[in-house]
Amino acid sequence: MSDTGRRQAARRPSSEAVASIRRALLDHYDRTRRDLPWRDDTDPYRVWVSEVMLQQTRVETATGYYRRWLERFPDVDSLADATPDEVLLAWQGLGYYRRARNLHAGARVVRERYGGAVPGSFDELRTLPGVGEYTAGAVASIAFGEAVPAVDGNVRRVLARVHDRAAPTPSWLRDVANVLVDPTRPGDWNQALMDLGATVCTPREPGCDVCPLGPWCRARRAGTQKERPAPVDKKAVPRKAFATAVVLDPSGRALVVRRPEEGLLGGLWSFPDASVPRGGDVVAAARGAAAASGVGVGDRPIRIRLEPVRHRFTHLEATYHPVVLGVALAGNGADGENRRWIPLEPPHDVALPVAQQKIARAATAALRD
Ligand code: ADE
Repeated sequence: MSDTGRRQAARRPSSEAVASIRRALLDHYDRTRRDLPWRDDTDPYRVWVSEVMLQQTRVETATGYYRRWLERFPDVDSLADATPDEVLLAWQGLGYYRRARNLHAGARVVRERYGGAVPGSFDELRTLPGVGEYTAGAVASIAFGEAVPAVDGNVRRVLARVHDRAAPTPSWLRDVANVLVDPTRPGDWNQALMDLGATVCTPREPGCDVCPLGPWCRARRAGTQKERPAPVDKKAVPRKAFATAVVLDPSGRALVVRRPEEGLLGGLWSFPDASVPRGGDVVAAARGAAAASGVGVGDRPIRIRLEPVRHRFTHLEATYHPVVLGVALAGNGADGENRRWIPLEPPHDVALPVAQQKIARAATAALRD
């Protein structure tokens, strides 16, 4: 065993303590559980959708998306039959679009390989596109009653505090969570831990006075709960600036292009853009981006520079410098597979990433003024 492994080996609570911890938390959950739409039934497809949405998204935001998604794609078949654009449109605004693409690909795999029934074990679930340890654990436990843990950020915090760990490793967390998961109600157990982390064992002001795990919490005893787990150093990410061209046609519709599959926002629609060096000529770069999409900008362009729009991606801090470039000559840019003219005001008819929606709003306001 490595040094880290030795240091982090989970000290097992006695089986009596485990039984008491389970009872205390499940009782608390039965009294206080949040009434969330994906808790209405344990249909595996629904659980899968909710868990994918909830990975990088707050519960409050996910709720509306979840309801609309199920109206649009009520089952595996309807999702498998959808086009990528329809899927991205339903996901629009949730970010991390790879999740939507994987869910879509996953529905197709489930139909082809499993006859449309979401597979019922952790190991099989793990083979689906985009389904990692967390999602497989959540779906297997909630939808199928398999006694496997599901450790998300909230659960990590709860376990780190109960054991007073500053820097829990993934394998330590897996071990600890495995020991605790209740074999008779694994789905409720995992959701009870999630709820506790979201509502009681919160990052800054934990409600230790009302916590059902108080009697077993080492961080509480040591007074270290606010320092557990220690903050992870956020990696600095590169910054990049883009000139964004909002090109309008004579009827006020704006040009969007489908981005190449590989690269930032791959396969999604955006206003044409081009990276621009610090101090570079933003208007020229925006015109270049429009030209690269095959659309000539007219002789008398409206050139409105809009406020920069910043967006933090996982691996990149992007700043968009939008320029409303004026009216394209009529007839030089019909809709095509990778090019569309869309209304600046929603609904845009295509899936626009959040930063692009902000640019559309800013352009609409500027043109109105
Ligand atoms: N976060 C992730 N999954 C969740 C769930 N099932 N309930 C509440 N919060 C969650």
